[in-house]
Amino acid sequence: MEPGSLGCMGDVWGLMERRRGGTGGLYLLLLCWLLATLTAAQAPDASSSSSGIGSFVEFSFSQEPQDSVTVRGGVLQLDCQAQSDAGAGPPLLTWRKDGVMLSAVVDERRQQLANGSLLVQNIVHSRHHRPDEGEYQCLATLEGLGTIVSRTAKVTVAGPLKVVIPTESVSSYLGDTALLRCEVSGDPTPIIRWQKNREDLALTFDPDSRLAVLPSGSLQVSRIQPPDSATYRCLADNPGSTRTGMDAELRVLPEPGVSRNLQFLQRPSRVTALLGTDAVLECSASGYPTPGIQWRRGEEMIQSWNKKYSLLVGSNLIIQSVTDDDSGSYSCTAANKNHNITAHTELSVQGKEK
Ligand SMILES: *[C@@H]1O[C@H](CO)[C@@H](O)[C@H](O)[C@H]1NC(C)=O
Ligand SMILES: *[C@@H]1O[C@H](CO)[C@@H](O)[C@H](O)[C@H]1NC(C)=O
Repeated sequence: MEPGSLGCMGDVWGLMERRRGGTGGLYLLLLCWLLATLTAAQAPDASSSSSGIGSFVEFSFSQEPQDSVTVRGGVLQLDCQAQSDAGAGPPLLTWRKDGVMLSAVVDERRQQLANGSLLVQNIVHSRHHRPDEGEYQCLATLEGLGTIVSRTAKVTVAGPLKVVIPTESVSSYLGDTALLRCEVSGDPTPIIRWQKNREDLALTFDPDSRLAVLPSGSLQVSRIQPPDSATYRCLADNPGSTRTGMDAELRVLPEPGVSRNLQFLQRPSRVTALLGTDAVLECSASGYPTPGIQWRRGEEMIQSWNKKYSLLVGSNLIIQSVTDDDSGSYSCTAANKNHNITAHTELSVQGKEK
């Protein structure tokens, strides 16, 4: 459909709404029908609808409010601009949220700027009071002609990011494994990235890499080498905010070569994965002699490393493209020639939500 007739429908709709189908609406409807007939007659050159009587339908939005994510205590700004060459002066812009005109709801945090933009300060968002989240629309009215309604802009307020487990400094022996933790909760769930000496760590997924960020947010460093000795910190991002973790040191100690008890740095926890996605079962251990990691599916040792199963930085099990058959119990064993320790977990696979 070409823009002229869209604008016209908007006008009729707006007018009908305001006048409840009064004579003005009917008159406009007739005008629109006339215009449509005219435009059809001039086809295929659709652009000609802007001439003559078309000046009336050149009433459209040049800018419409966009979807946005904001944070509690923050600021929300929605922009809107409409133009018309009807010579009736600039259109009057108003706003509505979830179908309710904002002019009808007094709130001093909210103001409309001279150019029509809507500004909401000090965004409020609690479990039971969410006055600012919702669907916003801008309305442009030309006196005597009608009202057009903009697209719907979805406004979400992101929950604050909370550090659940802050990163602590660790000392590890050369050749061993270290885990730097970073657990941050929030809604939407934040994405964790890491910095080494305040510079972004570019992590690759090749099988030989020793460093990886795990789904839990932890940074695992395997087969520790002297250059790993540095300051690390994590950054948690969601669309609403960024949270920077504390600096933590990874100190690298020379390996004294004396037997050290095996211990899990991370035991595998229950994982629920969506059908068709990749699941990662986390497991890492430290000790001397440096332990190897074995995985079992039920009682059966996973021995073939292929498309289905692979290891992330030598210890975390990646199961590609999970199916119902992959549900069940798994265990992770850390073993050296003297000892072994085992931890069990469950993987459940959920069907895709329709
Ligand atoms: C209206 O003014 C505000 C504040 O000066 C500005 O940020 C915004 O972009 C303007 N809106 C439009 C549609 O130009
Ligand atoms: C673990 O240790 C037990 C003895 O404590 C031994 O029987 C078993 O074979 C070991 N398993 C592995 C995988 O090394």
